[in-house]
Amino acid sequence: MRSSAFRTKSVEESIRDTEEPEHGLRKSLTAVDLTVFGVGVIIGTGIFVLTGKIARDTAGPATALSFVVAGVVCGLAALCYAEFASTVPVAGSAYTFSYASLGELPAWIIGWDLILELALGCAVVAVGWSGYLRSLMDSAGIPLPDALSGTHDGHFGFDLLACLLVLALTALLVAGTKLSSRVTSVVVAIKVAVVLLVIIAGAFFVKAANYTPFVPPAKSTPGDTGIHAPLIQLMSGYTPTTFGVLGIFTAAAVVFFAFIGFDVVATAAEETIHPQKDIPRGILGSLAICTLLYVLVSLVVVGMQHYTELSTAAPLADAFKAVGAPFFAGTISFGAAIGLTTVCMILLLGQSRVFFAMSRDGLLPRFFAHVHPRFGTPYRSTILLGTVVAVVAGFTSIDELAELVNIGTLFAFIVVALGVVVLRRTRPDLPRSFRTPLVPLVPALSVLASLWLMLNLPAETWIRFGVWMAVGVAVYYAYGRSHSRLNSASAPR
Ligand code: ALA
Repeated sequence: MRSSAFRTKSVEESIRDTEEPEHGLRKSLTAVDLTVFGVGVIIGTGIFVLTGKIARDTAGPATALSFVVAGVVCGLAALCYAEFASTVPVAGSAYTFSYASLGELPAWIIGWDLILELALGCAVVAVGWSGYLRSLMDSAGIPLPDALSGTHDGHFGFDLLACLLVLALTALLVAGTKLSSRVTSVVVAIKVAVVLLVIIAGAFFVKAANYTPFVPPAKSTPGDTGIHAPLIQLMSGYTPTTFGVLGIFTAAAVVFFAFIGFDVVATAAEETIHPQKDIPRGILGSLAICTLLYVLVSLVVVGMQHYTELSTAAPLADAFKAVGAPFFAGTISFGAAIGLTTVCMILLLGQSRVFFAMSRDGLLPRFFAHVHPRFGTPYRSTILLGTVVAVVAGFTSIDELAELVNIGTLFAFIVVALGVVVLRRTRPDLPRSFRTPLVPLVPALSVLASLWLMLNLPAETWIRFGVWMAVGVAVYYAYGRSHSRLNSASAPR
């Protein structure tokens, strides 16, 4: 049975599927739409929420370097994603790419992995959004009861706002991508304006003294032992440490979350008018813009407030409060709350498209592959996943999930990089409007860089990820393999 697990779906077949009227998505997106889409999903909880905790506990002022490290890892992966996306312009991102190059089982694994990344990523962002909104509501004198304010400091509460946000966004997505991308453009403009406000206004409050020491000396952290320690430290036998040069990498593995989303641009390939050129432009353009903004924001924030005093809930806004500029703080909270909605929506869109592509191939029930007759959207998969994410967002906290999302995404990067090399060998004839430079060197570096960040994540994250993937392989052998459309490739469709 080895051969059936590694059978591939040809690129031509993938493209033909998208041309079937009842299973094809409407093509309406351009390169600018995609860049906006990319920036819309990339800037989010990572920079607005995680920066504070990472600077305070793991990297100090050198957090800007952690963003550079994570940005380089993503840049290498983006070069590989762009070639794949421009060769196989079909919904489903890395899932589709690996089906065309590595085979059905690897494709299943990556699809299953992407559902984890996008669904949990969406839940993380919804919870971050709810935190900012609650802080605004508190200031306005309408606080929510604790029982409906999410889980904090070991105290359980249902996160009502996060849950409602996901349900509302699901309804928007069912009603059509074009509507949601128009809403997205306005919201992205607000979000970028807020980020620029932090950089420009914040620069006036920077004190040079806050940058010393730029890389705080390494110190041991007794709390981060055993499975809580980064895997690389357990493997090498070092006592777990924070700060120092190693701390920059540990931090990079966490702030990596702030970059998640550029790969989601590739999931919209099928809805793009000229995917061959526009997808690479959208991916690389949005990644470059965000890397620059992150480095500047983190430099400004650690310059405004000493890293040991940064807040972990709303660090950007609180840094302005700390320097006596509450007006800016309120504006930033408001913009962040609005900006996080698009991140959440695009992650939700991406995951429903992966699920849709897997159902269309028969690896998940075909029932979910129907497109809405009026809206042209995969409404069944969107509603199913939206409901599940709404429940997850209601019951979980950010810290539990962000690292799991990161490991899943880094794993996907590795598969995509390997896929580029395999597809160059197996299908050298395919037109590639974007070619990854220096193959196989760049894909090899991408694999090593992603693996390095994965090793900097805690051992317990590896265990959770292993469990999720084991469940996925079991589902493939119990359902996907026998229902795959490749079983009846010659039968009428
Ligand atoms: N990159 C996105 C964020 O930071 C997922 O929220």
